[in-house]
Amino acid sequence: MISQDTIQQILNRIDIVEIVGSFVKLKKRGANYMGLCPFHNEKSPSFTVSGSKEIYKCFGCGKSGNTINFLMEHEKYSYVEALRWLAAKYNVEIEEKEVSPEMRARQQLADSLFIVNNFARDYFVQTLHETEEGQNVGLSYFEERGFTEETVRKFQLGYCLNLRDAFVREAQHKGYNMELLQKTGLVTIRNDQPADNYRGRVIFPIHNQSGKVLGFGARILVKSDRAPKYINSPENDIYVKSKVLYGTYFARHAIDKLDECLLVEGYTDVVSLHQAGIENVVASSGTSLTTDQLRLIKKYTRNLTILYDGDNAGVKAALRGLDMAIEEGLNVKLALIPDNEDPDSYVQKIGVEGFRQFIADNKQDFILFKLQVSLREAGNDTAKKSQLVNEIAETIARIDKVEDFTKQQDYIRQCSQLLKIDEEGMVSLVNKYIRDRLTKQANQEQNRFKNRGQEAPAQEEGPSLAEMYPEYFDENNQPEAVPENLFNKDEKQERELVKVLLRFGDKMFDEEQKTTVADYIFHLPYDFESLAESEVVKKILHEYKTQYDQGAPLDKKWFLYHQDPEISQNVALILEDKEAELSANWRDKFEIKTVYGDDAFVKDTLSATHYLILRKIRKLIEENQQELKTATDFEEIKKCLEMDIQLKQMAKELTDKVGTVIIK
Ligand code: GTP
Ligand code: MN
Repeated sequence: MISQDTIQQILNRIDIVEIVGSFVKLKKRGANYMGLCPFHNEKSPSFTVSGSKEIYKCFGCGKSGNTINFLMEHEKYSYVEALRWLAAKYNVEIEEKEVSPEMRARQQLADSLFIVNNFARDYFVQTLHETEEGQNVGLSYFEERGFTEETVRKFQLGYCLNLRDAFVREAQHKGYNMELLQKTGLVTIRNDQPADNYRGRVIFPIHNQSGKVLGFGARILVKSDRAPKYINSPENDIYVKSKVLYGTYFARHAIDKLDECLLVEGYTDVVSLHQAGIENVVASSGTSLTTDQLRLIKKYTRNLTILYDGDNAGVKAALRGLDMAIEEGLNVKLALIPDNEDPDSYVQKIGVEGFRQFIADNKQDFILFKLQVSLREAGNDTAKKSQLVNEIAETIARIDKVEDFTKQQDYIRQCSQLLKIDEEGMVSLVNKYIRDRLTKQANQEQNRFKNRGQEAPAQEEGPSLAEMYPEYFDENNQPEAVPENLFNKDEKQERELVKVLLRFGDKMFDEEQKTTVADYIFHLPYDFESLAESEVVKKILHEYKTQYDQGAPLDKKWFLYHQDPEISQNVALILEDKEAELSANWRDKFEIKTVYGDDAFVKDTLSATHYLILRKIRKLIEENQQELKTATDFEEIKKCLEMDIQLKQMAKELTDKVGTVIIK
């Protein structure tokens, strides 16, 4: 956990124009900056950055957010990663909150491993280009494979001298720790002596998404039966094979823009395709795909195209991972590269245009491919065939129905045709698998609640979109084309309270009592969190109150850059909302200035709080009158009448204080 103090320091320094400008070429246009949107392909700029509002918005694709959102979207950072990146950029020292000593030790270890890898990467690159052996053996090998100097530089390829311990001696000389050198796999101990592990091999550094070196793949140069073709870094605190795809750092923007990720098997396939101009490509490095790798891809696109060689065991392994990919919601396509070729050799053979055409012509749907392969294998065996029908139905059932209904329908149709079975039968089989899964999930949920000793909530159908977002729908539950008025009056007023807190929370409300606006609001005998009806307002109020109770600084930036996007986005909207600028209206209508001077925010505070209180009182009045109508007992009637007077009195006092203009 990064301490709030640190976060605040980072937020204070954020300059959105500078940050976005380091990724996108921006030109000043009026008060704003414009550039080509990094999130979609466009020829004329519609991507706008506002320095004063600290937001960006693309009028082409609609993406918008603040600086942290930008880093999360563009660099695929998590919230915390974005903060760390900014901290490094602005030289803010990160103060960690509540980290256990173990956590801190692990973090330090990870940092050290990165430092060692960084050194090794530089060393191998230098060796490749600046030593005789590097040039004669390493560089000429790359040339032979058709890699240009530019490509070799870009991928930071290197060479490790064919000497026992040249690297480790240099590393020790520079003061790198032996234990760390072993952890990275760069060095082993042989006959009690440290020795270089990658002797006489060319080196492929493996980068994480932000370009830091996680580990290495080292390829042998001569055919050998005794030594493996590649030696990869061993797993350690930073290199976790199942979470890494080779090439993501170089491919990420192309994947984003083309909305497709090509998956190949080898390092050299990635490098070659890049050089040819196909940049949206990553490699699984010979292992079968894991869920973590699929999620990594999904950060950028939902369209995955696998380019494997058909004979290869890799295809079978990938087929096994298919259900996982479907469940992750990926659209998986497959193009089989001709026998005895791999993408590297094939693109060099037929050229980039030929290669692109080949993929376009041969790309097939993965589910259908699997079905065809299995059908061929099953032959005339009816038992096998019926097992196959079940398997396919289960696979189709994994497609998220809500998100991809038509996709699911399409598969049902196409698979029934291939299997020569009745489409309706397939539909009910698929539905059975969906039900089975839902039942299983529901049971797990129930158990979770039971374990916590709580009653599970009754199962009910979720609310419809129109119910969840009524403000976007008209009376007939049809989406409104342009939500003209996003919020109803009540919600506006609730938002007004949030706005008052965000803008003036720490301003002095009462000089004599030394109370701030927030003090005033939170010491009223009303709980505004429960008075509010909007879930968003409740949430923001809750978060605000938590900050307040902890005595934390009540900076609106804290909420504007909040980790929870629902909070950060709504806070931005609320602070933006010009229409409900109360002070201005008040000033015009009642010449408030003469009474309150520049302290119109006091008036805002009162009106925002009083509105919600009044609304509550009105509700109580209605309820009381309802009770009065049905009351039969004389005592009860009397009580209701008294209550009515009391409530109305309260309402009058409140309205007298602020006037009724806001509640029209
Ligand atoms: P070239 O033969 O140089 O074109 O390499 P390649 O990257 O195309 O390798 P290949 O198609 O033989 O294998 C695909 C991927 O599997 C490689 O990029 C490696 O990640 C991995 N791999 C291949 N051989 C080995 C090995 O001996 N050990 C390990 N750990 N991985 C290997
Ligand atoms: Mn190859």
